[in-house]
This record gives sequence, C-alpha cells and structure tokens, in this order.
Amino acid sequence: MADIRNNFVGIKSPNPFWLASAPPTDKAYNVERAFKAGWGGVVWKTLGEEGPPVVNVNGPRYGAIWGADRRLLGFNNIELITDRDLQKNLQEIKQVKQNWPDRAVVVSIMVPCEEDAWKAILPLVEETEADGIELNFGCPHGMSERGMGAAVGQVPEYVEMVVRWCKQYSRMPVITKLTPNVTDVRRPARAAKNGGTDAVSLINTINSITGVDLDNFAPMPTIDGKGTHGGYCGPAAKPIALHMVADIARDPETYGLPISGIGGITTWRDAAEFMALGAGNVQVCTAAMVYGFKIVEEMISGLQNWMDEKGHATLEDFTGRATRNVTDWQFLNLNYITKAHIDQDKCISCGRCHIACEDTSHQAITKEKDGKRHFEVMDDECVGCNLCVNVCPVEDCITMIELEPGMLDERTKKVVEPSYANWTTHPNNPMRKSVEPAE
Ligand SMILES: Cc1cc2nc3c(=O)[nH]c(=O)nc-3n(C[C@H](O)[C@H](O)[C@H](O)COP(=O)(O)O)c2cc1C
Ligand code: SF4
Ligand code: SF4
Repeated sequence: MADIRNNFVGIKSPNPFWLASAPPTDKAYNVERAFKAGWGGVVWKTLGEEGPPVVNVNGPRYGAIWGADRRLLGFNNIELITDRDLQKNLQEIKQVKQNWPDRAVVVSIMVPCEEDAWKAILPLVEETEADGIELNFGCPHGMSERGMGAAVGQVPEYVEMVVRWCKQYSRMPVITKLTPNVTDVRRPARAAKNGGTDAVSLINTINSITGVDLDNFAPMPTIDGKGTHGGYCGPAAKPIALHMVADIARDPETYGLPISGIGGITTWRDAAEFMALGAGNVQVCTAAMVYGFKIVEEMISGLQNWMDEKGHATLEDFTGRATRNVTDWQFLNLNYITKAHIDQDKCISCGRCHIACEDTSHQAITKEKDGKRHFEVMDDECVGCNLCVNVCPVEDCITMIELEPGMLDERTKKVVEPSYANWTTHPNNPMRKSVEPAE
C-alpha cells in the first residue's frame, strides 16, 4: 500500500489532506470530528487580535451556483474571521493538539498590519504548541475594508514586511496564504519568499457576486435588500487555483518554495492534480462543508489506489511531475495535429456536436447520410479544436486522434512533420527575425 504520510515544511501528518481555515475548523468540536474522520491536519479558522471579536451578519452569509443536477459548483461567502473569543480558541487549539499529536494543527492569523499587533499575538499562538501559522492575506471582504486580509495580500511590500515580523518574533513555520485577487500571483509569492516565509498556500477566495435577485434587484446573498461581493470557492475555482499554483511552482524566483494547494478540491484526483503541479499538500474547505468530513475516507483510499496502480510508493514520487510540462503558448508544438473522431456505436445522434461546429467552429461535422441523421467528422475541415468533445453529452463518444508523422493532414494537404516546431521559429512570426543573427 502506498505511503501517503506527509511532511510539509517539517509539519508531519498521516496524509496530505488538511482542512483549510474556515467554518470546518472553527472550534474544537469540529476539528475533533474531522480528525476522527481521518483528516491529516487542519488550519484553524483565522484568529484576530485580542479584544471584542468580530461580528458576522445575522442573515444569509453563503451563496452558490449549481449544475443542472443541483450539484454545487461554486460557493460564495461573506463570513469574516472567527467571531469566537481569542482565549477560548487558544485553549481549544492547545487541547486539540495535545489530544491529536500525530495530526497537523496550524493556526491562521489576521491582525492589523502593525508590528505591535503581530508581536502581541505570535507568542500567544506559540504557547498552544501548534505546528505552525498561516498568515491570512486573502480574505476579500469585510476585513479587507479594515486594511487586513486581501488589502495586505495585494501589496507585495506589505506581504514581505509582515512575513518578516512573523519570522522575527516566532519560531513556528510560517505559511503565507495568498489572495487570487491580483493580476500576477507571482509577485506576492516572491515577496513572501523574500520576507522569509517557509511556504505559501493558495488560493483564498475570489471576489464574486453569485447572482442577482430579480424581484428585489439585489445581489445574493441578500441582507435586508443589499448585498456585497463575497469570496468564491468550490469546484468552479479549481482551474484558477491550479494555474496560480503552477505559476509559482515554475517561477525561477520562487522555484522550490513549498506550496499548500487550495481551491475546489473535492476528490483524490483533484488533490493529485494539485500535487502533480507542485503542491506539497492540499487543503479543503467547500467539499467538507457540502459533503461532510467523511469524504476524506474516499480521498485517502482513492489516492492510495491510484498510487499503487501507477507504482508511486510515496507522495514525492509524483509531486511536481507535471510542473515541467506547463509552458508558455509560444513553446507549444505546432506540428502536433489532431482530428476529432466520433464512435458511431456510442453516438445517440443528439446533434449537439454538429450545431457547435457548424455555428461556431469549422463546419466539420455532417448531420445526415442517406437521408438519416448521421454525425461524422470531415477530416478535410477539422482543425482539431476539441469543441465537439466538450459539448457531447456522451463520455468518450468523441475522441481526438493524433496524426502520426508522415500522415497527410487532409485539411492543409501537408504531410505531418516528425519534428517539434513552435511559434518562435514559425515563418509567420514577425518577431522571428529578431532571434536570427544580424546580417
Ligand atoms: C465560509 C468560508 C469561510 C472562510 N473563512 C476563511 C478564514 O477565516 N480564513 C482563511 O484563510 N480562509 C477562509 N476561507 C477560505 C478557505 O480557507 C479556502 O481558501 C477557500 O474556500 C478555497 O478552498 P475550497 O475551494 O476548498 O473551499 C473561507 C471559506 C469559506 C467558504
Ligand atoms: S474538433 Fe473542432 S473543428 Fe473538429 S469537428 Fe470538432 S468542433 Fe469541429
Ligand atoms: S454530440 Fe455526441 S452523441 Fe451527440 S451527435 Fe455528436 S457525437 Fe453523437
């Protein structure tokens, strides 16, 4: 059986599945239940500074979007950091860590962007004997209006400054949690590294309005006729998170910086994808909120089964294996040519591929033959765009077939070249001259 024990910046856990800082980790009761279910670690719901706790709205704080089968695809919240007393949280953290020494307990923190505020809270957290801290530079609503959360995460200089304070005033490993609400996530990641962070985690939630109530003309969730943007997460956020993880993993300036991957992870496969792109472990929030803590059982067994099947003995065997295959568009092989192929035995003749290709792609799919509905790809028109595959309701009914070198591409009437050739060397590239030696 594959060994899925995890060591993330020296923090050990029996598996790489941690619960992200959020309602599932808000109190000892939840965290104990999560550990009983098998979660490898938690990042405790973000603590604020000493004093009266923050106050949440008393109406709906969540919104969502669903697929046609009512499966939740995207989740949105306007919740703040913990609204429980700091001392109570600290006592519970200490007790939980004592009860579960083999699990990772990391504490998320967000206090004002002032040295004294960080200096004051760090020893209190350290006293709990938690395994590390995560700096919440990502909360996009409420707290950011008060100069915290994303308001810090969006300014690389602030990120670097706060990380430096945390390294200076604490012995605990520091994980810097990044906001996706920036143009280029590499900049705050580099700043965190410059400040001395042990790792980054990402993504926190994305600015969003999930919908508008057309009776009241108000954004949802609606509080007494008004709404505000919230933080978006869940399966729909995964592609954005994967991209950002890959961006940091392959950036020469942050190369090798440990990453905790977060965003839409619902199954073992999602987790394996994040890790293949360079994440050292993963964190989960929405999936636990929607399906309960026991989903971790399937995550653990699924990951182990897949690793056994593929011959990966440990997590390190596949971590980062996909990073090197993420490249820039200009380096993609223009001699790689595919054509769509429809499996006539699987086709239910719905016609969606025909309409999609006819109206918006390359008019490459027939709709009838001998007076009957019949859907077939015309290789002399197909550009291999993959649209039909994506709209077909039958899985694996349409597949993309690669043309082997030496075969004729009936569309261009050219023979497929065996060599790799990209845009930087293409004759149509006006910039190509600039890489040629000057005459
Ligand atoms: C209701 C809710 C509350 C959250 N509260 C926090 C928080 O206090 N601190 C924090 O760093 N992230 C918070 N998050 C963000 C999550 O930790 C996580 O980064 C995000 O939800 C993406 O993961 P997911 O797609 O698995 O949900 C919260 C998310 C949700 C849904
Ligand atoms: S791959 Fe694109 S061009 Fe080819 S048949 Fe499908 S939709 Fe049409
Ligand atoms: S979308 Fe798929 S099932 Fe429908 S006609 Fe095309 S190939 Fe057949």
